[in-house]
Amino acid sequence: MTTATLCPPTTELHGSWLESWAEWGSADQDGASVFFAAKFGWDLHSPQGFAQWVELLNELGRPGAVPPEGFAPQSTLWLERDGEYLGAVSLRHTLMNEFLQEVGGHIGYGVRPSARGQGLAKLALAGALDEARGMGLQRVLVTCNDSNIASARTIEACGGKLERIVPAAEIAQRFGAVEDLRRYWIAV
Ligand SMILES: CC(C)(COP(=O)(O)OP(=O)(O)OC[C@H]1O[C@@H](n2cnc3c(N)ncnc32)[C@H](O)[C@@H]1OP(=O)(O)O)[C@@H](O)C(=O)NCCC(=O)NCCS
Repeated sequence: MTTATLCPPTTELHGSWLESWAEWGSADQDGASVFFAAKFGWDLHSPQGFAQWVELLNELGRPGAVPPEGFAPQSTLWLERDGEYLGAVSLRHTLMNEFLQEVGGHIGYGVRPSARGQGLAKLALAGALDEARGMGLQRVLVTCNDSNIASARTIEACGGKLERIVPAAEIAQRFGAVEDLRRYWIAV
């Protein structure tokens, strides 16, 4: 087995991506930005819909890209090994709205259920930090639910310093939070 690597989104991984999606079931695929496909009505099962989505994900990472109204420009990277899609990480270039400033942060990531526990989230987050450094960001906000131990350990392993744990009640009304939220900053 070769080492997993980070690559730009590509239509070559369509079949494997669909297998991963099925593994996630009804859970949101953190870091994957499937919501863009939903927004534009693209069917990710079809080669055409998947290609449109992949093109948008790559476009949004280019300097000067203009994202759809209400969305931040972002870079997306996929985890891949031997032609298998393993997960995704996305780096929002700016904290352009209150949701990102208070809840979402700069970076989101997710690893397909069958590939967890192999250090892939740490690889993905480290890759996003490299990307942030390349863009001239000096620090990034990364958040996770207080109960998400694997995510908290990922952030801490990548240098995250806990700013505070925000009680769910503080952000429930505006953002629908049901869990306390850990806010970390990572110097890049
Ligand atoms: C959180 C998630 C990304 C972790 O991915 P992963 O590839 O399994 O994580 P890694 O193997 O890189 O491990 C990262 C750290 O978490 C720890 N960890 C992994 N799984 C764990 C578990 N089930 N319980 C406790 N710790 C765990 C690892 O030991 C490691 O910590 P260490 O460096 O201190 O040993 C993955 O579980 C996932 O996709 N969850 C659903 C989506 C999600 O929660 N995304 C993050 C949103 S903030």
